[in-house]
Order: sequence, then C-alpha cells, then structure tokens
Amino acid sequence: MNEEQRLASQQVNQPKPTNAKPEKDYSQYFERVITAPSLKDAKKRGKEEVKYHKDFNIDEEFLAMGNGRKFFIRTYGCQMNEHDSEVMAGIFMQLGYEPTDRIEEADVVLLNTCAIRENAENKVFGELGYLLKYKRQNPELLIGVCGCMSQEESVVNKILTTYQHVDMVFGTHNIHRLPHILKEAYMSKEMVIEVWSKEGDVIENLPKQRNGAIKAWVNIMYGCDKFCTYCIVPYTRGKERSRRPDEIIQEVRELAAQGYQEIMLLGQNVNAYGKDFGDIEYRLGDLMDELRKIDIPRIRFTTSHPRDFDDHLIEVLAKGGNLVEHIHLPVQSGSNDILKIMARKYTREHFLELVRKIKVAIPDVALTTDIIVGYPNETEEQFQETIDLYREVGFEMAFTYIYSPREGTPAAKMNDNVPQEVKKERLHRLNAVVEEFSAAALKQFEGQVVEVLVEGSSKKRDDVLAGYTRKNKLVNFDGPKELVGHLVKVKILEAKSYSLRGEFVEVVHRHGVEV
Ligand code: 5AD
Ligand code: SF4
Repeated sequence: MNEEQRLASQQVNQPKPTNAKPEKDYSQYFERVITAPSLKDAKKRGKEEVKYHKDFNIDEEFLAMGNGRKFFIRTYGCQMNEHDSEVMAGIFMQLGYEPTDRIEEADVVLLNTCAIRENAENKVFGELGYLLKYKRQNPELLIGVCGCMSQEESVVNKILTTYQHVDMVFGTHNIHRLPHILKEAYMSKEMVIEVWSKEGDVIENLPKQRNGAIKAWVNIMYGCDKFCTYCIVPYTRGKERSRRPDEIIQEVRELAAQGYQEIMLLGQNVNAYGKDFGDIEYRLGDLMDELRKIDIPRIRFTTSHPRDFDDHLIEVLAKGGNLVEHIHLPVQSGSNDILKIMARKYTREHFLELVRKIKVAIPDVALTTDIIVGYPNETEEQFQETIDLYREVGFEMAFTYIYSPREGTPAAKMNDNVPQEVKKERLHRLNAVVEEFSAAALKQFEGQVVEVLVEGSSKKRDDVLAGYTRKNKLVNFDGPKELVGHLVKVKILEAKSYSLRGEFVEVVHRHGVEV
C-alpha cells in the first residue's frame, strides 16, 4: 500500500471522495462514496517505485464474517479476471464463506466485470437488472460490482443512478481490501464505493481458491503502459508492475509439486516483464529460462505485445521442453497507417520480421492473434492489408473484433466515416479467412500422434474425453475417466471444424509417473 492508499484506507468513514477527484459530479452521493474512480488519474504514470507487500493477512476481526454464509462470483472477460476471481474466492474462504454456484443460495454475489468492449459492459448491466429480483426476495443479499468496469467513472455513475440495489463497487486495485469492503457493506445502508485509480504496489501471499487441479494461472505482471489508442486496459489496470522472479518461480514450483500439469503465465503485456525493475536486468526471456527447468509439463504465457518481443526470449522459447510451441501474438491490423493511429509502435514490416525470426528459431510454431476491424476511417485497402498479412503469416487462429469506442481513450474522440454495416461485413470476410486457416491447421494433424493433456469429458458427450495439445488444439477421444489430469498420446483420425477427433494410444510416462 502506498502513502496515498494508506490515507485513503484510513478515511473509510469520511464523507468525501479522497484520492480521486471524479470528473462527474458525485456531490449528491457524497455520503456513499469512499473513493471514486477517475480515468484522468488512472492515466498518470508516476516515477514512484513499485512497493512489494509480502504481508497480506486477514485481521482477526474479519475472520468469522462469512460463517454460515455463501458467495457467488460471476466472471466476465480475460484470464486475468478469472484469476482475480480465484483470489477473491480465496479471500472469501479465509473469511469463512462457502462457495455456491446458485445465486438463489448466495449471501454475497459479485460480478467481476470486463470493460474491453461495449457488449461486455452491456452484459453486466443486463445481469445487474436481473439481480434485482434476488435482492427483492432476499434484502440481506449483498451485491457487488468489481473488475475493470468499476474503474470507469461513467459506470459508477450509472450504477449510482440506475442500479441502486448494488451494495458495493470496488476496483481492480482494491481486491485485497475485500474484507474491509464487505464489513463496510454489512454496516452501511448506503452503497460502498472503493476504487483506487492509481496503483504502484504488488501484493504477494494473497490466498487463491483455484478452479481446477490440472491447469493453473500465475500472474507475472500487472497493468499496462502501452496506451494503444483504442484500449481501456491501461486505465483499468494501472501501470506496469512486475512480480519478483523468485516469487513467481516459487509459486510455479509449488504448483508443480501439487501436481498441476500446465501453467499459464499472465500479464496484460508480458513482454514488458521486468522493465520496471530498478535493481536488476531481468526480462521475460530470463524468467522463461528459469521456469524451463521446473518439472512441470507445460508453460504458456499471455498476452504478448510484438514491440517488446526480444531475441533472447525467442532463443529461450526455441529450447522447447516445457515451453510450448504456441505463441499468441496480437497484431490488431496489417496496415501501417492503422497501426500508427492505434499507437501500436511497430510496423507491418517489423511484425513480419518478428514472425520470420520466430519461425526460424521454432519451425514448428503455431501462431495465433487478435485483430480489430473497422477502426475509425479504416479504408477497404487498409482492411485488405490485414487480410494479406493474415495469409502471409498463416495464423492458426484469431480472436476478431469490431472496434468498440471506449470512453476516455483517444480513439473514442476520433471521427469515424466507416458505417457499422461495412464493419460487420469486414468482420465476416476476415472470419472466413480465419476459418479457412484454422481448418487447414487442424487438417495437418490427421494421421499424426499428438500429446494431449486430458481435462475432462467433452462438452457434448460424457463418455468422450477432451483435452488440449501443446499448440492448444482441442482433441476428443474415447477413453477411461482415469486418464483425466494426465498427458496421453492420441492418434488423430479426423479434423473437424474446430477440434480434432482421435483414438487413445498410451499414457505419456514422465519421470516414472504411473497412472
Ligand atoms: N474494441 C475492439 N476490440 C478491442 N480490443 C481491445 N480493445 C478493443 C476495443 N476498444 C481487442 C484487442 C485485444 C483484445 C483483448 O481485445 O484485439 O488484443
Ligand atoms: Fe476485460 Fe481487459 Fe479488464 Fe481483462 S483486463 S477484464 S480483457 S478490460
């Protein structure tokens, strides 16, 4: 906790907003607001050093708070959010709450929200409206909104005016304050709002209630300083802060010892890992080189920014072993003009050169990407450049989006002459290319034997097992339930549109591990 936050936390019961001066007029709600969000503050990047807190613990006064009570968390958005929900679940459990997957049974419902596109936000507002019914049935129910949307003042304003059945709003930097926020919400009849807009800290030792026992998420860094002109994340997640290497290595070692088979390293921009260390020269390549030596079958990372993807990292990834040959590398556009307006800070040529280097070092690599179509004033030619780049790289899969203006970002202020219909049609054409390449990539596996990490039954049929290859391809095959959690070899018989169908060959024996 930095000085500003410490002050903010001491002022919990005071009547005025503290560390943030909201742009919107909150005066009519002053008695409710503890700290309100401010995108203006969230934009600032100070020179203060990152402070590390290893001492997260829950005060005794809170420990019985959850006895006899149940919590329900609904998560929207990315894996970072999923992992934050695991942390919040961990905190709830330490407070004595039990988890439930039925809203009608819950004493506390949290919506962990995503702000990346308008439709993500609309889903949350829809859900909030729906929750009113439960609040009427059970007035004791606490409803909370957290995650990226709560960092936006327009959202908080809308909740204050339209969704007054919400009891708590807290931000992405306030997760560790959950016990205090809950206590405040139980005591107060008013909505409790605690959203810090500036964050300089890394908090270790947070409890986690992980969702599964096979794959685990591990944060390596928080925040983003890239400020792509379309993106809300640098505002909702704060400045880039890296966790110390020894903390990450220790966490991965512990997960390996607990039997986890796959680790996904998380960060909004993992290639900037270590840039903020003042005392050591240590980057993602160095970290991966250490993690490579840990006895766990697979390590992945997400999400990459092409700008900071350095040669050392490529060299280390080429060593293979538990570092998988799949890289998700968002390109966003194939047009230099659009990349410039997006402030991506690389050109099409730079991106293609990076891909060339990766392919030379890792010939078998599977590349996937993210693309935005319909950026303000995008021309048909510029869109075609994206399609051409897609074909040239030969991406195996892509997440594709129509540009969605986000209030507070530079792109939201740009004039846009591209009609929505044209945007939709471009997305449609791009998706046809994406599907063509995905199908071709899957087809190549027919007849091959691949390594699959078995995660459970297939979605459609309980007697069919499902898992993913190192390149993240979904494989379905017949086999006994005992194989769940294990690495197995599967012979691919048929490529479907989005998955592979195969037959079980044998269990992969690692270091004498028997099934
Ligand atoms: N509109 C549309 N797509 C967006 N993304 C991020 N911001 C926006 C926006 N405003 C996409 C990018 C990013 C992915 C996570 O979401 O492609 O890589
Ligand atoms: Fe959504 Fe981005 Fe926040 Fe993840 S970090 S929840 S994608 S806005």
